[in-house]
Amino acid sequence: MQTFTTASALSEALAAVRRPGDTVGFVPTMGALHRGHAALVKACRLECDVTVASIFVNPTQFNESADLETYPRTPESDRALLEAHGCDFLYFPEVDDVYPDGPDTESLVMNLDYGTLTDRLEGAHRPGHFAGVVQVVHRLLQIVEPDVLFLGQKDYQQVAVIRRMVSLLDLGVRLHIVPTVREQDGLALSSRNRRLSPDERLVAGKINQHLGAVAAGLRSGWPARELEQLAIRGMAALPALKPEYVEVVDGHTLLPYQDGDPVEELTVLTAVRVGDVRLIDNRIAYRANPS
Ligand code: PAJ
Repeated sequence: MQTFTTASALSEALAAVRRPGDTVGFVPTMGALHRGHAALVKACRLECDVTVASIFVNPTQFNESADLETYPRTPESDRALLEAHGCDFLYFPEVDDVYPDGPDTESLVMNLDYGTLTDRLEGAHRPGHFAGVVQVVHRLLQIVEPDVLFLGQKDYQQVAVIRRMVSLLDLGVRLHIVPTVREQDGLALSSRNRRLSPDERLVAGKINQHLGAVAAGLRSGWPARELEQLAIRGMAALPALKPEYVEVVDGHTLLPYQDGDPVEELTVLTAVRVGDVRLIDNRIAYRANPS
């Protein structure tokens, strides 16, 4: 694996290896890599001729500066994981290289019409977060120019927002969404899990069980609002769990699902505080035409 700290050096190296007809796949990350990230790299290797990953803790998507400062940084093990999974190129820049004109520059991409996708759920709880995400992903796509972009279903709303950006700007990159990788008890892998105490870690496994119950209930025709309330009450009754929201949504608009509406994808999303750690997770209850 070759590592580059500047966009210009990476572009040059990519241009040198890219043969006509080659597919370049890209896996953007913020480091602190785990098996979830590894699944993205594996999927990329399987599908593409060239695999590019990035590690960049993007300052513009953190709405709490303490979260940015405490974000785990594990460059040595990250590189080892990427190497072990056959990543070809790693872009590992400093802030100046990604944002030569400064990170706070308002860009066109931050002001596109994202409709209902950015103002609810995570958008409501983390103001400015998605503006930072689209800003950095757009910039990274300009640098890498991939054919396929690999993203995790774990960040369901992030996928919806990036998909809208790609479509509005007609960027011509295909999205490949990788299912959420979980621990044995169902807890979705996240770099934040390492901040959980042993007791918190144990109870955090219940989040996915509650999402699973909502998904099963939806498939059996139970009312969405009732299932949401059951999950909220069930989680709130457990020590250390404080659910912020449980919402059953139309996967395309992320608007609350109204029972009986025809939707292509029906998904339940949650954000839960476990002690000081805020976790998000989701389960797709129904997909009209699974690929
Ligand atoms: P990060 O949190 O590092 O995640 C990088 C990618 O890994 C995202 O697409 C995320 O959805 C995926 N991922 C995380 N945990 C996963 C799991 N348990 N199973 C499957 N995939 C998982 O998401 C970001 O970084 C940033 O917002 C980024 C897109 C890099 C922009 O800065």
